Amino acid sequence: MDAKTNIALELIDLEPELEDFRQAVVEGLSSSPQKTLPCKFFYDATGSALFDEICDLDEYYPTRTEINILRDCVSELGTLIGDNRLLVEYGSGSSVKIRILLDQLPLAAYMPIDISREHLQQSAQRIAEDYPELAVLPVCADYSQLTDLPVYQKNPGLRKVGFFPGSSIGNFTPEEAQHFLQNVARQLQPGDGFIVGVDLKKDPEILHAAYNDAKGVTAAFNLNLLSRINQELDAEIDPTAFNHEAAYNDSHGRVEMHLVSKTDQQIRLGDDQFELATDESIHTENSHKYDVDEFQQLADAAGLKPVKVWTDENHWFSIHYLER
Ligand code: AVI
Repeated sequence: MDAKTNIALELIDLEPELEDFRQAVVEGLSSSPQKTLPCKFFYDATGSALFDEICDLDEYYPTRTEINILRDCVSELGTLIGDNRLLVEYGSGSSVKIRILLDQLPLAAYMPIDISREHLQQSAQRIAEDYPELAVLPVCADYSQLTDLPVYQKNPGLRKVGFFPGSSIGNFTPEEAQHFLQNVARQLQPGDGFIVGVDLKKDPEILHAAYNDAKGVTAAFNLNLLSRINQELDAEIDPTAFNHEAAYNDSHGRVEMHLVSKTDQQIRLGDDQFELATDESIHTENSHKYDVDEFQQLADAAGLKPVKVWTDENHWFSIHYLER
């Protein structure tokens, strides 16, 4: 066995309650006048693989733009953050982004928080192997519900910096984003930092292309939710009877994804039946876009003070450094 694989990682398991998938789907399809499905259920194995593909698409600018900004600002971030910190990652996502920080910042410890135990263990293990000097403290929890962070027993006073990339904050409503940021503020001590990636408002045509890519990967990602419901919930839904639709809603400042019924149809979920009329939609995702000022005000009101913001030359994406 490779010596690198011997690092035994202890998982801090907060045993998150998994929201009942069936109950959420029944509730969403019963909702009137607008049927909905929660976007957090996109990410089964197929959905996660499709999302990885989306991140590599030419039209989907957020991932590569954020990575480029992060590479450019990481040394300045290092100066703002200081040495010997505990880096808390909300959701254990892109290894490219986290490794930019781990490679360049003199961190003492890394605490990834993720609801998927298996994914968390695997990614934390790889980080522990590649960064043997770093204390890796994986926490299995739903970061959107978390109010307090587990205490790092070996060094309870270690100063923290949070990291929430990818504009995942945009998938919350502004009210939910505010609530999440308030929780983050609670988890930090005065002077601790928070790094957050936020997609910016821009020409709706660019947004349209990003969520309606030519290869149809985003459509497949959206439609996969129906396949997942079929597989996991004894349902009979024909995904080919739906169209993917994504459009910028200017009044809400968000891209909305919908699944639109091509015909009048009935779908079955166990013993429940739902009627859909031709052109009726199921709203599956919101992706909010912010102006820099707008986001800074939201953060400030939640108790996180804007210190510095970096954007790309097109002003498409932003990385904010906030301080508790
Ligand atoms: C994960 N999240 C920030 C992505 C977004 O852009 O809202 C999910 C996504 N939906 C369609 N494409 C990508």
